Amino acid sequence: MDAIAAKWDRIYREVPPHRPEPALILKEHEFLLPPAGSALDLACGLGGNALFLAGLGWEVQAWDIAKAAIDFVDAQARAQGLKIHAKVCPADSLQQENTAFDLIIVSRFLDRTLKDAIIDRLKDNGLLFYQTYTRAKSQPQGPNNPEYLLAENELLRLFAPLKVLFYREYGTFGDVRQGLRNEAQLIGRKHSGRLAK
Ligand SMILES: C[S@@+](CC[C@H](N)C(=O)[O-])C[C@H]1O[C@@H](n2cnc3c(N)ncnc32)[C@H](O)[C@@H]1O
Repeated sequence: MDAIAAKWDRIYREVPPHRPEPALILKEHEFLLPPAGSALDLACGLGGNALFLAGLGWEVQAWDIAKAAIDFVDAQARAQGLKIHAKVCPADSLQQENTAFDLIIVSRFLDRTLKDAIIDRLKDNGLLFYQTYTRAKSQPQGPNNPEYLLAENELLRLFAPLKVLFYREYGTFGDVRQGLRNEAQLIGRKHSGRLAK
C-alpha cells in the first residue's frame, strides 16, 4: 500500500496545474441528481467528481491514499468555499465506515472486495456512479494488470443488488474509433423494497 501511495503521490506532484474534470458518467447524468445530499468520492485523485458535486451544493467526502492529491482537493475546496472533507484514507476504510451516503462515485479505481461495503454504505434510494477501465480496452490509457480491469459485464455482476438506471459497455464491438471505449459505466440505485416484475 505504501508503495502504491508513493507512486500516486509522485504522479500528482508532477501533474501540471489544471482544473480536474468530473468523470463522464457524472457529467452526463447531472439530471439524475437530487438537488443536494451527501456523497463519497472514493479514490478521488484530484477530486474532479468531488469538486463538481460540491459545486452543485452537495456535502462531499473525498478519500484517496495520495497525500498530494488530497492536499490539492482540500486547497481547492477552501479557495472555493465548498463543503468537501478531503482525507488521506485507503478505500477499504469504507468497511469500517458508519456513515451512509446519498451517492457514491468511483471512477478509474477497482477493488472488487469493496462491492458489499459500497452497497451497504448507500442510503436507501442512494445512487452509485461507477466508471472504470475494461479488459477490452483498445487504447493504452489505464492499467494493464487484469486485476484492475473489468471483465465483460462485471459491473453488472458486482452490483447486481442495485437497480440499474444506466449501463454502458461497448467493448470492441463495431467501430472502435467511435463511442466511449476502454471503460464501462454503471449507475445503480439502492432499493430496499422488491423490484417490480
Ligand atoms: C486512476 S486514479 C483515478 C482518480 C480519480 N478517481 C479520477 O477518476 O480522476 C486512481 C486513484 O486511486 C487512488 N488509490 C489507489 N489505491 C487506493 C486505495 N487503496 N485507497 C484509496 N485510493 C487509492 C490513487 O491514489 C489514485 O488517485
